[in-house]
Amino acid sequence: MSNFEPEIIAFCCNQCAYAAADLTGSMRMNYPPNVKIIKLPCAGKFETIYMLKAFEMGADGGIVAGCLEGCCHYRTGNLQAAKRIKQVKRILKELGLEEERVDIFYMSSAMGREFAEAATKITETVRKLGPNPIKRKIKLKNKK
Ligand code: FES
Repeated sequence: MSNFEPEIIAFCCNQCAYAAADLTGSMRMNYPPNVKIIKLPCAGKFETIYMLKAFEMGADGGIVAGCLEGCCHYRTGNLQAAKRIKQVKRILKELGLEEERVDIFYMSSAMGREFAEAATKITETVRKLGPNPIKRKIKLKNKK
């Protein structure tokens, strides 16, 4: 298990987290290459099914990253995303997976360091938890 490298999906708001991720490059900061970004116009566009589908397709963990509280350009998108992440956590628990595999973070476009920290935190958490057990079942099913 020591060489396990998790696959993490990050649903990032274009107004903040996506720009923050971009900023890490300009700041010469690194974040784990395990994190693959999907850009959304607002965190409010994140749907519960997106994360569940990512897990079904083999992701080991995921995050949503949206604007700071009170700063969503569409008013409450980040709050909607928080509700949906709670729902994802509940569903993962029902499926027997650890809810720590998903999280939500808030940041501004100037918070490159915070993006790198969030990406590192979720990668380390999921690395400790191990591979997504659903992925293993899918691989076994496909071998038959
Ligand atoms: Fe960033 Fe809504 S515009 S969370």
